[in-house]
Amino acid sequence: MGSETWTAVDGYVQGTLAPHDEALNAAVGESADAGLPPIQVSPPQGKMLHLLARSIGAESILEFGTLGAYSTIWLARALPAGGRLITLEADAGYAEVARANLERAGAGDLVDLRVGPALDSLPVLHEEGAGPFDFVFIDADKVHTPDYFAWSLDHCRLGALVVADNVVRDGQLADLDCEDPAIAAQRTFHEMLAAEPRVEATTIQTVGVKGYDGFTLALVVG
Ligand code: SAH
Ligand code: DHB
Ligand code: MG
Repeated sequence: MGSETWTAVDGYVQGTLAPHDEALNAAVGESADAGLPPIQVSPPQGKMLHLLARSIGAESILEFGTLGAYSTIWLARALPAGGRLITLEADAGYAEVARANLERAGAGDLVDLRVGPALDSLPVLHEEGAGPFDFVFIDADKVHTPDYFAWSLDHCRLGALVVADNVVRDGQLADLDCEDPAIAAQRTFHEMLAAEPRVEATTIQTVGVKGYDGFTLALVVG
C-alpha cells in the first residue's frame, strides 16, 4: 500500500463526501493555470477544516498562507451570516489569483486578504484590534509556525481551535538528526504546546494525495 492507494482513497472521499462545486474546481484550475504550486490542502482536509470551524460556530477566522484561497473558500463557507475571515499571504501574485477565486466563490466580501509577510501584518492587525479569533489555520512558511501560534494564542477566545498544517513531513518530525529549520520549527512548536497551560493539543499523521504528513489540533482551554 502506498501513495497511489492514498491518492485513490482521497479521490473516493472527495467523490462521496467532499465534492467540489464550480468555484472550488475553478480555484484549483485557475491556481494551476497561474503557476501556483499545487500545495493546497486536499479536498478531504478542506472539508475537515470546514467541519471543525462549523462545529464550534466560528464567526471569526484567521488563516496564515492563502495561496489560491482553496482552504480559504472551505473555511469561509463555514461562517454564519456576519462572520469574517482574515487571510495572510506574502506573495502579491498569489493574492491576485486568490482574490479572483474568492470573488467567484461569492466569498469576496467576507474575506479580508492582507498581502505581505504575515509577521508584518500581525502588528497591524493588533493595532486594529482584530480578533478575538474562534478558529486559526496556520499554513504559511513553516519556520514561523511557532511565532504564528504564539500570536494567535494571544488573540483567540477561550474554546478556540488552532490547526497547523504540515507538521509531520514524511516523519521528519520525530527524526532528531534532521536539522531542516522548517522541521526544527515543528519540534519547537510541539515543545511550546506541551509547556503551554492555555492549550490542549495533539498531532495526527495523515496520508493522501499530498503524501505523508500531518496536522496539529490545539484547543484553547485557558
Ligand atoms: N492554505 C493554502 C495553502 C498555503 S501554501 C491552502 O491549503 O489552500 C503556503 C502559502 O504561504 C503560500 O502561498 C506562500 O506564498 C505563503 N507564505 C510563505 N511565506 C509567508 C509569509 N511569511 N507570510 C505569509 N504567507 C507566506
Ligand atoms: C508544501 C505543502 C503545504 O501543504 C504547504 O502548506 C506548504 C508547502 C510543500 O509540499 O512544499
Ligand atoms: Mg499546508
